[in-house]
Amino acid sequence: MIIAIANLKGGVAKTTTAVHIACGLAKNGATVLVDSDPNRSSLAWAGKSSNAPFKVITEIELLKYQGQFKHIVTDTKARPEREDLKILLDTVNLIILPTPPNGDDLRVTVSTAKALAELSSTKHRVLLTKVPTHSGASDEQDARTWLESQKIPVFKGRIRFYKAYDKAFLAGVPVYEVKKDRNAKLAWSDYQAVIKEVMDYGK
Ligand SMILES: Nc1ncnc2c1ncn2[C@@H]1O[C@H](COP(=O)(O)OP(=O)(O)OP(=O)(O)O)[C@@H](O)[C@H]1O
Ligand SMILES: [Mg+2]
Repeated sequence: MIIAIANLKGGVAKTTTAVHIACGLAKNGATVLVDSDPNRSSLAWAGKSSNAPFKVITEIELLKYQGQFKHIVTDTKARPEREDLKILLDTVNLIILPTPPNGDDLRVTVSTAKALAELSSTKHRVLLTKVPTHSGASDEQDARTWLESQKIPVFKGRIRFYKAYDKAFLAGVPVYEVKKDRNAKLAWSDYQAVIKEVMDYGK
């Protein structure tokens, strides 16, 4: 499977999603994470990690590894042009659009999804990230209702907001390897549910 993680907006958990989806796919077959974001955050993450379950490379390096991987995940730059979206659509099986469930991020995500729909995409799906965990929060449901009213496909699973992700990034490990954080396992279970949906999508 070739999966792109994209959004017109930055800071929406693209890199975090790319890294954790790649962790899940790596259990199914050789996986590479291509860092196509000029910020190179995925490479920074991997640079600290001694035993990542997948390889992290730049776009150009992919040329020399052609055909060696069962799954390719690409972390794209913020603000892709329409032309970038078209190339993505022609190339990948699935485009994941991560977004926190708040007004401004959703507004930009809806415009990204609409830009894809205008290109006749049936390959994009929104992933709600950084979802507040305090009781009574209705952000997730409100966001779903809003996205569904615009006929934008959304993953059933969602990624809740946990500090464990920051610790994971700083340590250069997947969130399930974060020590002394009681939410690290819960955080990983969120991505596991989404990885299952991704694998089902690929069938
Ligand atoms: N579910 C989450 N809960 C809490 N914090 C999170 C979560 N997901 C990501 N973060 C944190 O939010 C910040 C931004 O995440 P990330 O770098 O993945 O976003 P990005 O979309 O790749 O950003 P950029 O546009 O800079 O590339 C990071 O500090 C990350 O640790
Ligand atoms: Mg990033």
